[in-house]
Amino acid sequence: MKHGLFISFEGIDGAGKSSHVQALADAFRAQRRSVTVTREPGGTPLAEQLRSLVLNAAMDPLTEALLMFAARRDHLFEVIEPALARGDVVLCDRFTDATFAYQGHGRGFDLAVLAGLESWVQTVPALPAGTLRQPDLTLWFDLAPEVAARRLAGARAPDKFESESVEFFRRVAAGYAQRMAAQPARFERIHADQPLEAVWTDVVDAVRQRGWLA
Ligand code: TYD
Repeated sequence: MKHGLFISFEGIDGAGKSSHVQALADAFRAQRRSVTVTREPGGTPLAEQLRSLVLNAAMDPLTEALLMFAARRDHLFEVIEPALARGDVVLCDRFTDATFAYQGHGRGFDLAVLAGLESWVQTVPALPAGTLRQPDLTLWFDLAPEVAARRLAGARAPDKFESESVEFFRRVAAGYAQRMAAQPARFERIHADQPLEAVWTDVVDAVRQRGWLA
């Protein structure tokens, strides 16, 4: 019986998670693990098309949430579930916590509706009835919205979410904090307001503590 590992990376825009996705992939590969690196929204041809719509077009919050979950369903079935079944380490740049944080807390969309969609979308054949596919570990890169905004400024043309206010990102961060409080065992909070090497050390420690990296 092979055991895959599912790790998601979360945080507000500008928190600096993405470089650590690649570095962690390299660390696992160095220990002869097969790694699938992917992202949300996206990760399949269909979900990447949905990504470009949802990151660029204006739409109401329900449409936005439905597109996020539609992309997720395709991504789960086409990429994540097959990779976990092969025994891969799956490193996913954002997953459902982002929907709760951005669409739920950021936009103010109904959290109970999101929880309903979560349970529909993350019910998968590999798991017993009543169990949802969730990451084994979520690394939450926590950074003050003001600092993240300074990091993003001038980096490149901002997309729909990156153009949001500091207030919006304060709500998004509160959303992540709430998700972590509800499922503490799954989360590791990474203090992202440190030099890159120190952040990386914390990332590796979180994975090592769980016995997943030597
Ligand atoms: P991001 O992960 O930051 O990628 P990049 O670094 O290439 O910009 O971009 C994804 C954006 O989508 C980000 O602003 C958060 C948003 N998002 C949601 O609002 N809800 C979701 O469920 C997901 C997965 C992402």
